[in-house]
Amino acid sequence: MCGIIGYIGKKEASPILISGLRRLEYRGYDSAGVSVWNGRDLVNVKRTGRISVLSDAIDEKRPVGSLGIAHTRWATHGAPSEENAHPHSDCSGKVAVVHNGIIENFVSLKKSLLSEGHKFISETDTEVIAHMIEKYMKVEDFESAVVSTLKLLEGAYGLVAISADEPDKIIVAKKGSPLVIGIGDGEYFVASDTSAILDHTKNVIYLDDGEVGVVESGGYRVFNLHDNSVADKMIEEVSANMDAIEKGGFDTFMLKEIFEQPESIVNAMRGHITEGGSVVKFGGLEGHEKRLSEINRVIIVACGTSFHAGLVARWMMEELVKIPVEVEYASEFRYRNPIVDENCFVIAISQSGETADTLAALKLAKERGAFTYGVCNVVGSSIARAVDAGAYLHAGPEISVASTKAFTSQITVLALLSVYFAQQFGKINKNEAHKILSHLEQIPNKVKEYLENVKDVEEIAKEFYNATNILYLGRGANFPVALEGALKMKELSYIHAEGCPAAEMKHGPIALIDKEMPVIFIATKDSTYDKIVSNIQEVKARGGRVIAIATVGDNYLETLVEHVIYVPETIEIFSPLLNVIPMQLLAYYITTMKGHDVDKPRNLAKSVTVE
Ligand code: F6R
Repeated sequence: MCGIIGYIGKKEASPILISGLRRLEYRGYDSAGVSVWNGRDLVNVKRTGRISVLSDAIDEKRPVGSLGIAHTRWATHGAPSEENAHPHSDCSGKVAVVHNGIIENFVSLKKSLLSEGHKFISETDTEVIAHMIEKYMKVEDFESAVVSTLKLLEGAYGLVAISADEPDKIIVAKKGSPLVIGIGDGEYFVASDTSAILDHTKNVIYLDDGEVGVVESGGYRVFNLHDNSVADKMIEEVSANMDAIEKGGFDTFMLKEIFEQPESIVNAMRGHITEGGSVVKFGGLEGHEKRLSEINRVIIVACGTSFHAGLVARWMMEELVKIPVEVEYASEFRYRNPIVDENCFVIAISQSGETADTLAALKLAKERGAFTYGVCNVVGSSIARAVDAGAYLHAGPEISVASTKAFTSQITVLALLSVYFAQQFGKINKNEAHKILSHLEQIPNKVKEYLENVKDVEEIAKEFYNATNILYLGRGANFPVALEGALKMKELSYIHAEGCPAAEMKHGPIALIDKEMPVIFIATKDSTYDKIVSNIQEVKARGGRVIAIATVGDNYLETLVEHVIYVPETIEIFSPLLNVIPMQLLAYYITTMKGHDVDKPRNLAKSVTVE
């Protein structure tokens, strides 16, 4: 997501910081900034847009000094702007902080700092950290003030701080977001990612969660935040090249993003599940309770993969909230005369937040008086700005054109929204919510478990990569997964693929089935299992070659079909989150076997800003 670099030594810091930021550019960013100690003050320079814009601004301001920190931001709280760009300062400008991650309790921390007279200039969660350090530095030294602050933070951070009162050190801390210390010759670097410092040193130590590091030009030490014990850190030599680092050791961004899903699903949930796991909160909906109580219909507008997430959401909402839900292709909705009024809750789902049709559909709904809600990944995007309220996915930049981690994050946020509505409308009590949410909270580990043991999909890909057509069939909550599996396959491998409700097959697609035709069934244990087994038998009877996605422990399907891909068990409404992973991998492996560029399929763009 965001990127951090810091320097302490004898050289000029600014050029090192800028070259480090350039190395981090591939992660996606919307603004960047530096803070350099010039011997008298901390000089902050921040700009929105590309690193070259920041670099030009630094050339003009010329902050000269050998201690500095820098950050590229990919917005999570507050739109991309100079105010929201890091580093963030306290009231006096004597503390500068850069941070990756999300501080979940920043609203309450900010409230109490405001009541104590602190003045904020940004909308970020990070700025509270600078003010807290300022507050504690009134009675403690810099290091103790950072420690006191860290002890009050909930959420995730990779944090780097400097202070004009002690301009001989950089303090770093890690919880859930990576941080390394790079060891040079009489100089030290800190970074969120080794790629930022590889031009200067290959010797690094990796901080572990709960560790704090104090880095001075003469050395460094690392200790445990909670018991103050010294951490004995090993210096490791980084051997990977830049390309491998950018892709986190994976061959492609798509594979990296598929494997990021255990983490991105957790990030999508962050801050929403409260009261010991029995209540769902959505900050953006607070204060709108009266309006929400008048809602009698939900309309979801989206395109492509986001549309499929909308179909899963319909299933979850009808199941939990018992409210009518319509899911519309945004491009169709905007050119109809849809029945929308002020009692409609219209959700626009969009990874990029820039899809032209989704934005236009949303504006139409707004004109007709609906309450509009955005589920976007890119903070400050057009859709995020146009809605009445919304929630971000916090999935980090999705660089591969084919959407993977955004899809599972969208479903996660929409699952939480379903539970939220069910609670608001009195359809479930706290115990029921707790039960449902505990299943959702187990999903990241189940995805991880699946990805760590996956081997069958690549073997199946070898057998089928020369197919000319593939049919994907599913029912209920997993019919959208069939559509998504087919979309991934056709957009990447250029094999013709169709997704269809399994029972609809009899009404036409069954004519396609012969002994050449691979048919993928999503057949995990759920309320339609027996029906889908009958559909499998219908395909088998016509010689089709069946691959079934099945629940671990279901030995029956092995007796019926050629290939079974097992996924962990969960409750029906959340099964799409697990079942889609082998679909993504199958499309990935088949595409690479065919020799196509999996990250940049032909004719497609990541953000479709034209109709
Ligand atoms: C498919 C894919 C597209 C997008 C669609 C909508 O892998 O990525 O189908 O889902 O173009 O994009 P967003 O979600 O940015 O509105």
